[in-house]
Amino acid sequence: MTTVVSGIRSTGNLHLGNYFGAMKNFKKMQEKNNCYFFIADYHSLTTHPNPKDLHSNVKQVLVEYLASGIDPEKSTIYLQSDLPETAELYLLLNMNAYIGELERTASFKDKIRKQSDNVNAGLLTYPVLMAADILIHNALQVPVGKDQEQHLEMCRKFAKRFNRMYNVNYFKEPYPYNFGEKLIKIPGLDGTGKMGKSEGNGVFLMDDAKIIKKKVMRAVTDSGPKRKNQEVSEPIKNLFTIMEVVSEKETLMFFKEKYANCEIRYGDMKKQMAEDIIKFTTPIREKILELYHNEAYLRKVVKNGQEKAKISAQKTIKEVREIIGFKKF
Ligand code: TYM
Repeated sequence: MTTVVSGIRSTGNLHLGNYFGAMKNFKKMQEKNNCYFFIADYHSLTTHPNPKDLHSNVKQVLVEYLASGIDPEKSTIYLQSDLPETAELYLLLNMNAYIGELERTASFKDKIRKQSDNVNAGLLTYPVLMAADILIHNALQVPVGKDQEQHLEMCRKFAKRFNRMYNVNYFKEPYPYNFGEKLIKIPGLDGTGKMGKSEGNGVFLMDDAKIIKKKVMRAVTDSGPKRKNQEVSEPIKNLFTIMEVVSEKETLMFFKEKYANCEIRYGDMKKQMAEDIIKFTTPIREKILELYHNEAYLRKVVKNGQEKAKISAQKTIKEVREIIGFKKF
């Protein structure tokens, strides 16, 4: 049985990018694998959330995870901060993670640009904490979107370095995984870049039909193709990419053909896209609303998850401590 680990930061509601990038295959994966899905609330601290909001953000992700098909009987679902063993492994891995390589990470460079007033050490060592999340269960497969590829590469580097340093074959080398499909990046509705939680360019699993229609109808397009078989502009490519995951193949082909023949009407395409998104998100949204107030159930899920995750995490920490040379007096 393969061990799978995946996490999502508790920094807001989940969007189509999270779902199609990482979560779409969770349901299938948990049937055959030993899956750990967690809510990355330590990671969320890099942006200094208000203590009043922290818990509700965690709860929202928990509920949206469950509503998307994670079955806590089959998988282990837990909070990152409920597993301080992860923090210990992070500390230990930090001892052989080098400043130069951390500074060169694309996500770190991006953060320097985006939050120049808060370039904290947590941001710099973000990939080390992520590696600890994965290695604490000695996982092999990590379902993530395309944007996490470099973090996974670093995780493998840290795992290999640990093995080499202590002359052991202890950690596996985990790789990004999407159940046989290629890793993807879901673009935003603003014509450029990826869909994000705080970019104002996303459709959330929680959005109702009215909001989805409004957002999609406002999506950036271009002035329309002028020549047959003209190269597709970035905003339209992005809309096609979203259609690829939410619409039927024939629908996508239909609009691609209309584009190639210069007959496309973006209004029609957006209307269809909104409908397809609504069709997909409505059952998830209903489940979210149903679960949200079931405090007793959520408490039970989190408690059981922590217990299960602890077993594997404690085993890893015990073995890692032995390898490093810590001994009891
Ligand atoms: P986060 O919360 O930013 O994203 C969670 C997952 O969603 C994917 N994702 C996307 N995929 C495709 N298109 C998009 N527009 C898009 N936006 C987000 C991300 O690739 C990710 O898989 N660092 C992780 C959280 C994490 C983690 C881990 C993941 C912490 N520790 C250990 C796996 C294993 C992150 O950025 O989450």
